[in-house]
Amino acid sequence: MPTIKILPHRDYCPEGAEITAPAGTSICEALLDNQINIEHACELSCACTTCHVIVRRGLESLNETTEDEDDLLDRAWGLEPQSRLSCQAILAQDDLTIEIPKYTINHAKEAA
Ligand code: FES
Repeated sequence: MPTIKILPHRDYCPEGAEITAPAGTSICEALLDNQINIEHACELSCACTTCHVIVRRGLESLNETTEDEDDLLDRAWGLEPQSRLSCQAILAQDDLTIEIPKYTINHAKEAA
């Protein structure tokens, strides 16, 4: 079973975390199943950007992005080349290291 290492995030896992989840699970489901309650405003249906994560290691093992995901990612706060919507990124057998961005577009709006 692949391991996902999550880098420390002030709100979700201040010390960082390491979780495992079966291949075929989305990163978002794996996080939620392990009490890392990342935002998921559209309930995992690829219609928001609040589940955005940056995949620091293992990106190439994930499924390809769809056009819909790419379009949405363009609007995500803090977009990077390794960005994915975690509800659309499906685990294979490889371990991952991910970072949850500091803000989502919801937060960014509140802060403005
Ligand atoms: S939860 Fe909305 S795009 Fe992933």
